[in-house]
Amino acid sequence: MTSGPQAVEIWWARVRDARPELAADLDAAERGRLAAYTRDEDKARFLLGAAVIRRVLGRDLEVPPADVRLDRTCPDCGRPHGKVATDGMQLSVSHSGDLVAVAFHPRTAVGVDVELVDPTIEADSLAAVSLSEVEADQLTEVEPAERARAFTQYWTRKEAVVKATGDGIRADLRKVIVSAPDHPAALLEWSGYDGPVRLVDLPAGQDYAAALAVLSDEIPDVRSIDAGPLLSSGSVPRR
Ligand SMILES: CC(C)(COP(=O)(O)OP(=O)(O)OC[C@H]1O[C@@H](n2cnc3c(N)ncnc32)[C@H](O)[C@@H]1OP(=O)(O)O)[C@@H](O)C(=O)NCCC(=O)NCCS
Ligand SMILES: [Zn+2]
Repeated sequence: MTSGPQAVEIWWARVRDARPELAADLDAAERGRLAAYTRDEDKARFLLGAAVIRRVLGRDLEVPPADVRLDRTCPDCGRPHGKVATDGMQLSVSHSGDLVAVAFHPRTAVGVDVELVDPTIEADSLAAVSLSEVEADQLTEVEPAERARAFTQYWTRKEAVVKATGDGIRADLRKVIVSAPDHPAALLEWSGYDGPVRLVDLPAGQDYAAALAVLSDEIPDVRSIDAGPLLSSGSVPRR
């Protein structure tokens, strides 16, 4: 890690950063997942997330990226598609549209979520399955043209929290109550978790919504880092 002890590093990659040679950074299970994606964009996003994790940690540990030990075991089914974990670093990955974000903190659990705002979504029907009544009411007060963005902000704030705790899709998002999009990000209530949480929105360009949750009382110092140079260099440590 290049930053101070409390900083959460968010490494950002773009789909155009993907190149086939990055697959050499992956382990066998990851290459299996890579091969299973049928759409090139899904392949690229997964490849980039894995390569960013492995190159950042490989550089810190002074080992080749492919030798970094990652555990992606899903607690539900045992397959390697769960929250990514490793000794000595807390991690979270998110990909959507053109963007891939990977959050790192040495100790505090982190959850990151980025979503391309899709103006064609049926925000009102999605609200019924993912927002509390109060949030859904607040959403109806948002101008129709702004509703997709507002919904997506709610969504990323909630997802960041459930990704930090590791609940992921097991959590009922209607019960993860967050502040309204025009207010500073905060978790207001969730009976599924009673520890400390800090939530912040991340700047990700006008087409995206993004949020970071950290399971701590401290306001996180967030450092955004462009992963492009790390991904384009061949100069990662080799044995
Ligand atoms: C986190 C979750 C909600 C995905 O969210 P999403 O918006 O669709 O996707 P994102 O790009 O933001 O996040 C994907 C990342 O979440 C991580 N993730 C998966 N499960 C997670 C969990 N329970 N908690 C935190 N992070 C999780 C993975 O690192 C994944 O990255 P990868 O695909 O590169 O391995 C996740 O729980 C999920 O949907 N998993 C897939 C569903 C699934 O396969 N379930 C099968 C269970 S048997
Ligand atoms: Zn599973």
